[in-house]
Amino acid sequence: MRVEINDLGKKYEGREKFTLRNINLDIDDKEFCVILGPSGCGKSTLLRMIAGLNSITEGELLFDGRLMNKVAPKDRNIAMVFQSYALYPHMTVYDNMAFALKMKKERKEVIHDRVMEAAEILQIKDYLYSKPSDISGGQRQRVALGRAMVRKPGVFLMDEPLSNLDAKLREHMRVELVRLHKSLGTTSIYVTHDQTEAMTMATKIVLLDDGKIQQVGKPEEFYNTPQNLFVAGFIGSPTMNILKGKMDGGKFVSDSGVITVNPSDHDKAALKDYEGKAVYLGTRSERLIAGIGEENTFQATIEVIEMLGKEKLLYTKLKDGQDFIMSQPGHYEYAVDEVHNFHFDTEALHFFDGKSTRRIN
Ligand SMILES: Nc1ncnc2c1ncn2[C@@H]1O[C@H](COP(=O)(O)OP(=O)(O)OP(=O)(O)O)[C@@H](O)[C@H]1O
Ligand SMILES: [Mg+2]
Repeated sequence: MRVEINDLGKKYEGREKFTLRNINLDIDDKEFCVILGPSGCGKSTLLRMIAGLNSITEGELLFDGRLMNKVAPKDRNIAMVFQSYALYPHMTVYDNMAFALKMKKERKEVIHDRVMEAAEILQIKDYLYSKPSDISGGQRQRVALGRAMVRKPGVFLMDEPLSNLDAKLREHMRVELVRLHKSLGTTSIYVTHDQTEAMTMATKIVLLDDGKIQQVGKPEEFYNTPQNLFVAGFIGSPTMNILKGKMDGGKFVSDSGVITVNPSDHDKAALKDYEGKAVYLGTRSERLIAGIGEENTFQATIEVIEMLGKEKLLYTKLKDGQDFIMSQPGHYEYAVDEVHNFHFDTEALHFFDGKSTRRIN
């Protein structure tokens, strides 16, 4: 099913401001769309509007071209999975999964086939006759997914469904969900505040902040060309290094003067109207190269080293005291308090307008 959102807005009763405004979004059939953003930005509000659990203050919501604004949740052909899976504790796994279909007065054989099919895909056949209290958190989450799956909805809506699981299980379930989506092909809308989940699962990411869309696109687009300083800082771990400065003779000079960077010709062309003006320069930790370069070299003092196996994260300070994080191959040797030379990879610089914070290059 295709989901189309036109100029959607939400103002809760008793609130002065709109919680969401000017939301425009097209979600294609079979897409896995992740709505990402910090706590309180309006993710759940948007998902609940799509589900019909929140009323729509302004704008349009269409499923396959049909206006849904006033359609009751049960008639929207959706299934929702929540963070707290809210299984019925007194029912078996089987009955939990069968419940919605029983309510719809489906035939017994149909119910059985659908439950068994979902149980097969989710690998929960072994405990169909256990109670939720007798299975693990990850297994319960799969039952919650199964309960949504058996209804064969046009859209799956999920609100932070993995956030109650431990890190290892979360990683595992991420892959499971991607596989599941691949085999079912159901349009999915998934809410999370975890950028790793968004980057690993989404075919399309929608980043919200303060009730507004900051960027819509593929994970690679978010990583390689964040459209403003907020997106640049939100996506990627460790966060992008940001320097404030200005353009001087075609070069970037940081406010303290300790960093000068001569950008690529491509970036220079994009920056031609910025001579003498304030800009931000962003660079990802893995695009800083150890050693002295032909130019764009600077010194940094190592304060903390995090050995992550294949890479080492160096938490350093520049001469002016600013924090700078570099990622270096795990087998390189470094020690705390050492001063090292690094240089910029000019193929991977991000420039943002000093006032509007919008991307320049
Ligand atoms: N029923 C409600 N009535 C009034 N205000 C609400 C209601 N539900 C949410 N809000 C407000 O709307 C804003 C967005 O809330 P929402 O739950 O959509 O955020 P979220 O992005 O899902 O956050 P989180 O990551 O913490 O779940 C918040 O300021 C919240 O206080
Ligand atoms: Mg929420």
